[in-house]
Amino acid sequence: MIPRIYIPGDSGALALGAEKVAKAVRAELAERGIEAKIVRNGSRGAYFLEPMVEVATANGRVAYGPVKPSDVKSLFDCGFLTGGHHKRWLGAPDKIPFLARQTRLTFARCGVTDPLSLDHYKAHGGLNGLQNAVAMKPADIVKQVTESGLRGRGGAGFPTGIKWKTVLDTSAERKYIVCNADEGDSGTFADRMIMEGDPFVLIEGMAIAGIATGATKGFIYIRSEYPHVVVVMQKAVEIARKAGVLGVNVLGSANSFDMEVRVGAGAYVCGEETALLDSLEGKRGQVRAKPPLPAHKGLFGKPTVINNVISLASVPVIMDKGAAFYKDFGMGRSRGTIPIQIAGNVKYPGLYEAAFGMTLGEIVDDIGGGTATGRPVKAVQVGGPLGAYFPRALFDTPFDYEAFAAKDGLIGHAGIVVFDDSADMLKQARFAMEFCAIESCGKCTPCRIGSTRGVEVLDRLAQNIEPEKQIALVTDLCNTMKFGSLCALGGFTPYPVMSALNHFPDDFRPTPVAEAAE
Ligand SMILES: Cc1cc2nc3c(=O)[nH]c(=O)nc-3n(C[C@H](O)[C@H](O)[C@H](O)COP(=O)(O)O)c2cc1C
Ligand code: SF4
Repeated sequence: MIPRIYIPGDSGALALGAEKVAKAVRAELAERGIEAKIVRNGSRGAYFLEPMVEVATANGRVAYGPVKPSDVKSLFDCGFLTGGHHKRWLGAPDKIPFLARQTRLTFARCGVTDPLSLDHYKAHGGLNGLQNAVAMKPADIVKQVTESGLRGRGGAGFPTGIKWKTVLDTSAERKYIVCNADEGDSGTFADRMIMEGDPFVLIEGMAIAGIATGATKGFIYIRSEYPHVVVVMQKAVEIARKAGVLGVNVLGSANSFDMEVRVGAGAYVCGEETALLDSLEGKRGQVRAKPPLPAHKGLFGKPTVINNVISLASVPVIMDKGAAFYKDFGMGRSRGTIPIQIAGNVKYPGLYEAAFGMTLGEIVDDIGGGTATGRPVKAVQVGGPLGAYFPRALFDTPFDYEAFAAKDGLIGHAGIVVFDDSADMLKQARFAMEFCAIESCGKCTPCRIGSTRGVEVLDRLAQNIEPEKQIALVTDLCNTMKFGSLCALGGFTPYPVMSALNHFPDDFRPTPVAEAAE
């Protein structure tokens, strides 16, 4: 059997030099006259080890990383094609502590399989969920998803089964499934990683959603900043269509479901579901007032399920292994697993899929290894640009929707960004307001005007102009934005601002220049 070498084609790995490594491996193979198959797999998500190259040996896969092009010659000299020892040797990938400690349900195949091989997908449990779904009544599929406890992974944590039931119960001659792949939150990359590393799992999840709700057409709305994802998803949709996974007879059944890939134009607000629908319809992405809910009147006025990539990609394992299996993981009302994305100033950045319930401290200190700079952790922003900054004093908060909400925070899309003690929280608060001002769709006043006024107030505070007055003003303004905004962009910007102010008050009272000089 010819040797198999796995070199990730994932954007994160490419950014770290995977393409150059692949080129060096190809050149070395040619020079040594060795025949081998190079598989461009996804990433397993341990980004501190990328580019992580793996070889299939008689004793299983052996990993090496992070591999530089200059390592390649010596890797061959050390016999890496049969798992030989080398300074980059990591051993069996699933024994690497960062990977071994995870509970991989949604990301089970990511980094393991060839992303565009449907045979590989099937050999690793792919399509079992869809196979079960085509033999079930729509209401029973919805029931299974509801009973699993799956909640939307895009940010709001709304129960997926309930959303699907609303669409199932709304009669219309046409219904749609829309996958939200806009992934605009800072520090997040789970959607990108799974679409590049295991695209069929999303296709399978969308097909199940279609069969469950009576929708025959799906759209994946991908952010323009993800060009590799667009290519992979388009290829995967074509392969799935040719193989009868999509089309008029899904897996040979009487169910029809097909989908298209669409690309966004770079607005953060187009991740908000109704602005996304406007954008998909070819309009400028602006938030729609609710009601009507998209489940009643969504894309082109038809009942529409709109779900995040990870929500949809988690459905196949639920339909394969059952609601009880999935529900068994997690805590409280947060069931199953969540792909936590650890980013920012952190020693071990990457994607870590785990059951809900780990504490923030475990994630940052144990899994993330603290800061990359080695300085003390000052704050962690959880849930993207609209998420709160948590100080070390809140590190005992378990990763659970309700526990975070109880501490004026949110899990959002489960991205966490770590900051060391050099971070200036007043600057971070200003950044949140400025971000809102730049990304506001302009539809409602508290967000459109409030965010710009917020920047001005925080600038005055930074200049130490009547600080107490500015603090009262920004608090009042945040209250107005929180309760008076039409969507969560304006409504949640107060979370990073107020958490920074409340948890790091010293940063908001800059030392007067004269005093500092004394
Ligand atoms: C400003 C803003 C940006 C958002 N961006 C995203 C996004 O990039 N991806 C996403 O899945 N949800 C995003 N959401 C949440 C969506 O509006 C919506 O709740 C989600 O697509 C529903 O899918 P889910 O139930 O599977 O989470 C955003 C919301 C707001 C207010
Ligand atoms: S809160 Fe901001 S983004 Fe949302 S509708 Fe209002 S103006 Fe648009």
